[in-house]
Amino acid sequence: MRPLIAGNWKMNNLRSEAATLVAGLMEQRAEQDPGCDMLVCPPFVSIRPVGDLIENSPIALGGQDCHSETAGAHTGDVSATMLADAGCEFVIVGHSERRANHHENDELIASKAKAAISNGLTVVVCVGETLEQRNAEKTLSIVENQVTNAVPDNATAKNTVVAYEPVWAIGTGLTPTIEQIAEVHDHICGLLTASFTDGEEFRLLYGGSMNPGNAREILAVENVNGGLVGGASLKVEDFWAICTSV
Ligand code: PGA
Repeated sequence: MRPLIAGNWKMNNLRSEAATLVAGLMEQRAEQDPGCDMLVCPPFVSIRPVGDLIENSPIALGGQDCHSETAGAHTGDVSATMLADAGCEFVIVGHSERRANHHENDELIASKAKAAISNGLTVVVCVGETLEQRNAEKTLSIVENQVTNAVPDNATAKNTVVAYEPVWAIGTGLTPTIEQIAEVHDHICGLLTASFTDGEEFRLLYGGSMNPGNAREILAVENVNGGLVGGASLKVEDFWAICTSV
């Protein structure tokens, strides 16, 4: 299966910075197919400007979150319908920063994912344990709970991607060992295979301090079908180096 390398820009990049970044990525992509699908997820206000720039390029556009309802009195929120209307093909839901900063639970995340799928988007559902949970040897049960409860029943391999992102690895420069990544991805693959007829076909991304130095080794792990990249997605050279590591 063709890997996916997704850039989660988080709350970064003003319009001019975003323009420089995507111009650089498009230039590289025009010269070479890195062998993976490429996705950028800008903050909401940059979605249209970035969408205009990457239109007609093979780089896909995604949101970083969405509301579970189509429209209504939800100040500050953006619906999956609006993201689709703005040209997004993807949306991330359940990122650990949303879980921690906005108290999102698996039930809410599943309802967002369901809405995203109903609107024709491919949803990237994030799961992952905290350091405390890993140290307590609860990683597999925590991730199992999240996958079971946050991946909605209308998920298929075509409309859903699962991203394993250990919370303690995000933005810290720390990464799990290759064996630890392999263990969790194998477990997620088993869970999806047990629950969905095409469960084996779901793309599973690894995320958390992925960089040009560690990408090749991580992306070579069985059942790792791409990456969700934060910090390193903000620099053309770094993001491109990760894309060409697949
Ligand atoms: P990081 O973030 O690559 O900066 O660790 C990854 C993420 O949060 O998706």
